[in-house]
Amino acid sequence: MGATEGEVPSVDQGQTADGDPLAIIQQLQQQFEVEAESISDEAELAELRARYLGRKRGALTAVFDRMRSLPGELRAQVGKQANQARQLLTRRLDEISSALAEGRDKRCDLDVSLPGRTVHLGSLHPITLALQEIESVFTRMGYEVVEGPEVETDWYNFEALNIPKEHPARDIQDTLYLGGEWLLRTHTSPVQIRTMQRRQPPLAIIVPGRVYRRDTPDATHTPSFVQCEGLVVGPDITMTDLKGTLDHFAKALFGHETRTRFRPGYFPFTEPSAEMDATCPACAGNGCRVCKGSGWVEMLGSGMVHPAVFEAVGYDPQTVQGFAFGMGVDRIAAVRYGIDDIRTLYENDIRFLKQFAT
Ligand code: DAH
Repeated sequence: MGATEGEVPSVDQGQTADGDPLAIIQQLQQQFEVEAESISDEAELAELRARYLGRKRGALTAVFDRMRSLPGELRAQVGKQANQARQLLTRRLDEISSALAEGRDKRCDLDVSLPGRTVHLGSLHPITLALQEIESVFTRMGYEVVEGPEVETDWYNFEALNIPKEHPARDIQDTLYLGGEWLLRTHTSPVQIRTMQRRQPPLAIIVPGRVYRRDTPDATHTPSFVQCEGLVVGPDITMTDLKGTLDHFAKALFGHETRTRFRPGYFPFTEPSAEMDATCPACAGNGCRVCKGSGWVEMLGSGMVHPAVFEAVGYDPQTVQGFAFGMGVDRIAAVRYGIDDIRTLYENDIRFLKQFAT
């Protein structure tokens, strides 16, 4: 008993127990399932469909044909069963048909002889890379990273930093005013004020951020650039702390053989003020294109926090001292990566940026 593949049981053959039409329908379904498993193309599928549901030789169709000669009640039962079986088979055939279609589409897509597609990976911007290094050096020394708003008031950007209305520093830093008291911050120094207002000493913070100036772009200026500020406040902070810290910073960034020098400088918010240079990391201080032959690169401005600044935030300059510094991150990046025109840092030319992929 039981039909083998290719040989479909039929009511005529009476291969099942007693030729019971209900049992035959069930057997037909089981047999169909087994055969359906091995269908691998459209031709086989059409053949399967014909063998079970075909008008002439369909095994299930035969059940319908024979049904007519069955007695009333059995006929109704068989009819119902056969109809269900037909629906089931039809659904399975349709499923197989769409699975085959899908497989065919997949096969068309896959041409193993085609060259692989290049996946373009993004890379970090050189300013981001430089900033990450700067932040890493200072956070290892226990500094906290703090940020502040790019839209500032005149008071935070100038007044509280000991830069009064008629001060010439307001010309040096050509400001983009927004109307009223509002302006685009010209440096990250206002975040010193905001932080000191909120908190009590001791403090050790660095402040990365974008700043704005009314500059015409050239090889060393852009109207918007990135600075990193630093501020340390506590009892007994001295100029020696400033020099030791910033010398360590230069060595950590450019290599331990780096030397630094401090030149007297002027900033309204520090007294005394100093500018720090480092030996050029590109030529070890021998003179090259990066340092324009001098062997030295300017790294930052710094100084001891002016008492007027402490007074503006309500600190007592008799009991706390502090040092501060500020640097242009794009300049640091330019030196670090040997870039001679900082405009390239803001043009987003993919050919330039690609060089910094790690
Ligand atoms: N704010 C200064 C500038 O934009 C940089 C600076 C110099 C910041 C000395 C400081 C400092 O905190 O002590 O040019």
